[in-house]
Amino acid sequence: MKKVEAYIRHEAFEPIRMELLELGFPSLTVSEVKGSGRQKGIVETYRGASLTSHLRPKIKLECVVATEDVKTIVDTILKYAQTGEVGDGKVFVIPVEEAYRVRTGESGVEVLQAHPGAAAEA
Ligand SMILES: Nc1ncnc2c1ncn2[C@@H]1O[C@H](COP(=O)(O)OP(=O)(O)OP(=O)(O)O)[C@@H](O)[C@H]1O
Ligand SMILES: [Mg+2]
Repeated sequence: MKKVEAYIRHEAFEPIRMELLELGFPSLTVSEVKGSGRQKGIVETYRGASLTSHLRPKIKLECVVATEDVKTIVDTILKYAQTGEVGDGKVFVIPVEEAYRVRTGESGVEVLQAHPGAAAEA
């Protein structure tokens, strides 16, 4: 099991989410975060003074999947997040020890993503 953790532009998220859903990966977490990459920040002017803004708003997308599914997830993220401009983001792949579904106490890779007959969530 791996966690794919991606820092991407806001506009990339919705097409990524829709494609992951179609591919059978509906389970994910998304957060609005701020971060910086290797650039030294962008210069903005406020009331005549120039300010350097070091933190840029990004979307953090976290998706835990079976190891064999990592490439599918990463390829989908790259497909929609890559514009070729600086600030496109980063993707990290992190080992996951174990996963538990709280409702049932089940564990293992089976709890991660969609399974046939899964009920709609309220
Ligand atoms: N090493 C890192 N650790 C944690 N978060 C990171 C790291 N690198 C980038 N990020 C996150 O990803 C966001 C986008 O990074 P960014 O795309 O600017 O990376 P970069 O290395 O500067 O590449 P580029 O030159 O294409 O801009 C950052 O704002 C930050 O939230
Ligand atoms: Mg950058």
